Amino acid sequence: MQVTITPVKRLVGEVRIPGDKSISHRGVMLGSLAKGTTRLSHFLMSEDCLNTIKAFRAMGIDIEIVGDGSELSGDGSQISVFIHGKGLHGLKKPSHTIDAGNSGTTARLLAGILAGQSFDAILDGDPSLRKRPMNRIITPLSQMGANIHSINDNAGSESNQGGTLPLSISGGNLKGIEYTLPVASAQVKSSIIFASLTADCPTTLHQPALSRDHTEIMLSHFGGHIETDQLTLISYPVSELYGKELRIPGDISSAAFIITAALLVPDSRILMKDVGINPTRTGILDVFQQMGGDIVIENQNNSQGEPTADILASYSNLRGTEISGSLIPRLIDEIPIIALAATQAQGTTIIRDAAELKVKESNRIDIVVSTLRAFGANIEATEDGMIIEGPTPLTGSTVTCEMDHRIAMMAAISGLIAKGRTILTDGQWVDVSFPGFFHLLEKLT
Ligand code: S3P
Repeated sequence: MQVTITPVKRLVGEVRIPGDKSISHRGVMLGSLAKGTTRLSHFLMSEDCLNTIKAFRAMGIDIEIVGDGSELSGDGSQISVFIHGKGLHGLKKPSHTIDAGNSGTTARLLAGILAGQSFDAILDGDPSLRKRPMNRIITPLSQMGANIHSINDNAGSESNQGGTLPLSISGGNLKGIEYTLPVASAQVKSSIIFASLTADCPTTLHQPALSRDHTEIMLSHFGGHIETDQLTLISYPVSELYGKELRIPGDISSAAFIITAALLVPDSRILMKDVGINPTRTGILDVFQQMGGDIVIENQNNSQGEPTADILASYSNLRGTEISGSLIPRLIDEIPIIALAATQAQGTTIIRDAAELKVKESNRIDIVVSTLRAFGANIEATEDGMIIEGPTPLTGSTVTCEMDHRIAMMAAISGLIAKGRTILTDGQWVDVSFPGFFHLLEKLT
């Protein structure tokens, strides 16, 4: 879908951001493994989350999507998903390959769940996901006793160094392990936690830095038992989980694009209602405030253990900053849009310790740099991040997003402040995480 974006004078209004992607995935997964019905309201009806729903339907779970059809492409506020869970051992062998599409969270977390099931299954994904490393879950899940391998590795493909999809997984009879995660990854952590639920003894994980903790929070809500002590976590096997009601907060990673638009387009002021502000996700708020961004957090609340708030963002004069270390996992998905903000900030912005960007939906160091350069930005790639000099005026460009939803949205927001026309050749990719994105921007102009 080709989308044309032209500069706007100002963005003003109040919006509701679609549900959190990470929490929506986990809600379907835990709801399927729980006994009884789980209701998820403000569920994110995005391509990634629909792939998770499809996977569990293929394993015999009855999942109903209830709501006004017109909301399917909107913010999802009227959508409720009812999952009729069948308990920890209630999944059935799928009759075909499970396709995770573009979704790393679906693939890696599901691998952990399949590792605990006594049937075998094949897990695959789209060409972007097929490039992403799976050894990071194959290693710990194998140590737990699962028989899991990359099918292409077996075929001796030389191009496949990292253990990639498709994966063949044959699980059951797992043992608890003690494991040190080589990267601060919530997907890896969650995959192991899911496997640990049916293991013979507790599993201890040591993390290099704190990554998002939605699995830990939600699991406790469903009756699981996890103990955390700073960077160490012990996950206990459970005999049963129980279906729950959850209201999913707005996704701060989606709000990030709207916040940035408000900061960059003169005279703008946007209020985003009911956004998740879990501290493992709010690195972007800290960074923007440090850059001089006018961001106000109001009406703090809590939704089943997940902190929420309204976020008011207004046009600001930004200054450059440095982003590194333990801050990186707290804003890893927001780096493309922070890089755009840095092109408009006074001075130098340096992003370090972010080599993980190379294994996201695209190589986000290379693609962010080449895309923003095409707009005229002064930005350079480094081994583990980027260096940006600002402010630089931007000029409209034609962008192909490389199957990466966050690159598509970064380019769209660039187009709002760039001179001339910006053309997104494949704007449909925003649906991976933010259906209704273009509609919401229009509403604000
Ligand atoms: C996610 C974890 C992060 C993030 C991804 C969603 C999750 O990935 O980039 O978009 O829901 O657990 P990593 O765990 O690979 O850092």
